[in-house]
This record gives sequence, C-alpha cells and structure tokens, in this order.
Amino acid sequence: MSKEFDVVVIGAGPGGYIAAIRAAQLGKSVACIENWKNPAGNLKLGGTCLNVGCIPSKALLASSEEFENVLHHLGDHGINVGDVKLDLSKMLARKEGIVEKMTKGIEFLFRKNKITWLKGHGKFTGKTDAGVQIEVSGEAETETVTAKNVIIATGSKARHLPGIPVDNRLVADNEGALSFDAVPKKLAVIGAGVIGLELGSVWRRLGADVTVLEALPAFLGACDESLAKEAAKQFKKQGLDIHLGVKIGEVKTTDSSVSVAYTDKDGNAQTLDADRLIVSIGRVPNTDNLGLEAIGLKTDERGFVPVDDHCATSVANVYAIGDVVRGPMLAHKAEDEGVLVAEIIDGQKPHIDYNCIPWVIYTEPEIAWVGKTEQQLKAEGREIKTGQFPMMANGRALGIGKADGFVKMIADAKTDELLGCHIIAANASDLIAEAVVAMEFKAASEDIGRICHPHPSLSEVMREAALAVDKRALNM
Ligand code: FAD
Ligand code: NAI
Repeated sequence: MSKEFDVVVIGAGPGGYIAAIRAAQLGKSVACIENWKNPAGNLKLGGTCLNVGCIPSKALLASSEEFENVLHHLGDHGINVGDVKLDLSKMLARKEGIVEKMTKGIEFLFRKNKITWLKGHGKFTGKTDAGVQIEVSGEAETETVTAKNVIIATGSKARHLPGIPVDNRLVADNEGALSFDAVPKKLAVIGAGVIGLELGSVWRRLGADVTVLEALPAFLGACDESLAKEAAKQFKKQGLDIHLGVKIGEVKTTDSSVSVAYTDKDGNAQTLDADRLIVSIGRVPNTDNLGLEAIGLKTDERGFVPVDDHCATSVANVYAIGDVVRGPMLAHKAEDEGVLVAEIIDGQKPHIDYNCIPWVIYTEPEIAWVGKTEQQLKAEGREIKTGQFPMMANGRALGIGKADGFVKMIADAKTDELLGCHIIAANASDLIAEAVVAMEFKAASEDIGRICHPHPSLSEVMREAALAVDKRALNM
C-alpha cells in the first residue's frame, strides 16, 4: 500500500519548504519531494534560493564589497592598508559554508516538524478517490505516494539562449557565475536584469572588466524612472559598462575565451571578446517530467502552472506556488504563497496583497521598491504627490561613507495614502520594510512623517521623504 499524506509538496525551495513547515505546524502529515544535488553529489534541501540563488549571491556580494572597501574606501577613513590580496578560493569556500549551514538548517526544521523528505523526482501518475498519486523516483528505488493535497513548488531554472550552450565554465548561468575559479580579466554579461547587475558587480569589484549587453532600450524598466536613472549613473561611475538596445548574434568559444557578436543600438555590428560570459536573461518554470497531464493539468503558453489568486490550480486539492506560477520570481513571494496555501488547506482564509511585495536589487547602492512607480500611477490617471530626500543630507549616511542615492515616496494627492516607495541607498533592503508595513496597513505618508525614528540612522531619510510629500522635510 502506498504511503498517504495530508499534504505532499513537490520541491523544497523557499516556497516548498515553508509550505511544508506551515502545514506541519497546522497538524497535517506532510511529505516534501526533493531531488536537488550539489556539485559533490549530495542531496540538498533549499532549492535555487539556498543553493545557487539568494544566499550564495549575497555572500559573494558581501565579500566583494569588503574587498572593494579595503582597496578603495578605507583610505577615506584614514586607514591605510598595504598589499591587499584576494584569496578567491577562500571567498568561495566561505560562501559554500553559508550554503551548507542554511541547507542543513532546513533538514533540522524538517526533522523538528516531522516532515518526511522523499528523496527523488516527483511525477504525477493519477488521481483517485483516495487522493493524488505521485511517483517518487529516487536513486535506489521508486515509490508511489498518495496525497489528499498537493503543492507544486518546483521553481525555475535559468533561461538559455538558443544555440548557445552553457558549460558553466566559459559560458555560465547563475550556477557557474557563482563559482568561477578565477577572476576573469574581461567578463561579458548578457542581460542587465537583477542577476546581471548583482553578479556583474561581484566580479567587477574583484577586478574584472565587465561589459553588460541588454536587449531592451530602457535600463531597469520595472523601476521608477528616477531610480533607474540614478542607478545607471552610479553603475557607470563604478565602471560597469552597460550597452542597451543590443541584438545578440553568434557566440563563439575557444578553450579559454568567448566572443559575442551583437548589433548595437545604432545598428552597427560589434564583437565583444571576453574570458567568460554570464547569460542572465530571465528564468523559466520547472515542469519537466512532472506528469501534469496525468491529473489533467496544462501549463500556459510560457510554461507556468496556471493558478487563481489563491494559488489553486484547476484540479481540486492541487495548488502551485513560487517561481512555477505567475508573479515575481522572488523567494519571499514564494514563501508567502507557501504559508497561504498551507493555511487554505487548513480551512483558513488568508490573503496576499501582491502590490505589497517588495523588490530588492543588492547592488551598491542597493535598490528597493514597493507599490507602484510614478509612471504607472500617472498612466492609471491617479492624482499623486511625491516626496524625495537625498542620503547626502543624512548624518549617518555620511558617517558610514555611503551617502549616494535617495528615498522617494508617492502618495495619493487627496487621501495621502502611501502608494509606492522607491529607494536607492545603502541598506535599502532593510529600509523598504517600513514602507511595506505602512502600505499593508494602508498608512498615509503623514503617518510615517509623524513616527519617531532613531537618530542618527538611515531610517530618518524614510521620515524625511514622507515629510517631503507635504513639502515639509526638516533637514532640507
Ligand atoms: P526553487 O527555489 O527554484 O525550488 C524549487 C525546487 O524544486 C528545487 O530544489 C528543485 O530541485 C525542486 N524540483 C523541481 N522539480 C521537481 C520534481 N519534479 N521533483 C522533486 N523536486 C523538484 N529572490 C529573492 O527574493 N531575493 C534574492 O536576493 C534573490 N537572489 C537570487 C539570486 C540568483 C542568482 C537567483 C538565480 C535567484 C535569486 N532569487 C532571489 C530568486 C529566488 O531564488 C527564487 O524566486 C526562489 O528560489 C523561488 O522559490 P521556489 O520555491 O518557487 O523554487
Ligand atoms: P531578469 O528578468 O531580471 O533580467 C533579464 C534581462 O535580460 C532583462 O533586462 C531582459 O530584457 C534581458 N534579456 C532578455 N533576453 C535577452 C537577450 N536575448 N539579449 C540581451 N538581453 C536580454 O532576469 P535574471 O537577471 O536572469 O534573473 C532572473 C530572476 O531571478 C529575476 O527576475 C528575479 O526574479 C530573480 N532574482 C532576484 C534577485 C533579487 O531579488 N535580488 C536576484 C537575482 C535574481
């Protein structure tokens, strides 16, 4: 007889493992199917985020920032350092150590919450009155389990360019780009999105000469225009060479080099020669060999599993969350959907306000936003007022030597409800949380302006930007 569970989750990324934990907290019997293997061949929980995404990229961003600070910014503090050496293998080992700690942490949480880890590839085989049948093919054996409820949390993988094979040595997606064994002298990046900018920044700080080729004519099109403009200025100053409006042609490789043919924005044929290439042109949902047809499910034209606002598919008791469904491909969005579905299965009535999901790009300065941009609101015909405050006028920002950028708040012209907050500044990833809380509680910009903020702190700029909405910033 096959094993039976109240909830079976397919995939143990941030969507899947959080869904499994929440369902277990609510008293369900839970199994989670996961087949991820690290390069050493060990099975790992945590998905893209922990193994080759958020966690390792932020570790390298932090290490490379330290390196750049020592090389270029400690002198400003009157600290002179001689003979700075990079030990890349130690830096990569530190990153791997953090990944190991985090993935082991999920194994601990699974044991603590009595979640069964089914080690293998999950595939739907059918549906009966008893529930949904899923075949789990592991290394040693294949078994079939029955689930009253299923949560598809199979995530996404890097999109590759047709005809340009990724070997993760010379031509890398996110996986290879997090593990180059040497700092490339010249690094080419295709795609000026989040990964291109974050990983491009890592290797630039470590000494690479980085050129980024982007198809779209506009830089960071999803951002408020004022942020995109400031970001372009900062990245140019740092030496990231970004070319917009290009069309990629043939990519040729030798044993040790890559050459990318492209047409520039003026229609001229160009060639970019580099030691390594990162292809970061977006991600595609994982539904390979998932057997969706066995339960009557079809993906949409872009490969996503179609779901409603509550992550329910068209098949009763089958849900899908995270990168494999519509919406931003962000770990915290996947996590929130995991909690939502576990609580729905428990009979609760949870809700996610997708407008309140923050975005962060972990460059220097960091870029973060929540809600709508000024351009989106104007296109909708909303009457708005905006307030902006520069980091340059904040004592703490000057003290830590990170005074680039600003905070911009957008509020409804009549009601003063906060509609968007856009930050390009040090620690924007933490600062944005205040705006998220405010928007979830439907606060007015005046509410933030009236709240006492610690001095001196970067958070004072949040208050000043909120006051600036009403043209009454105090320190400007
Ligand atoms: P995933 O994390 O992709 O996990 C899916 C899991 O399902 C995988 O472990 C996979 O092995 C497993 N799986 C797939 N099919 C099957 C099957 N049939 N059977 C069994 N298991 C299966 N987001 C942020 O919010 N902040 C960041 O800073 C950030 N940085 C990123 C940096 C990089 C370089 C990358 C690539 C992504 C980053 N992201 C970031 C995005 C984030 O990683 C994803 O949004 C998040 O991991 C999605 O979670 P998920 O649970 O939907 O899927
Ligand atoms: P992306 O969607 O952020 O950016 C891809 C870029 O490539 C776009 O600007 C696109 O116009 C460009 N592009 C597409 N095809 C192209 C082509 N043929 N030639 C040149 N340019 C082309 O995707 P990216 O950077 O791969 O990241 C994938 C996802 O992972 C992100 O969308 C995000 O959801 C997630 N992520 C989140 C992070 C964070 O939250 N800090 C960090 C890294 C990734």
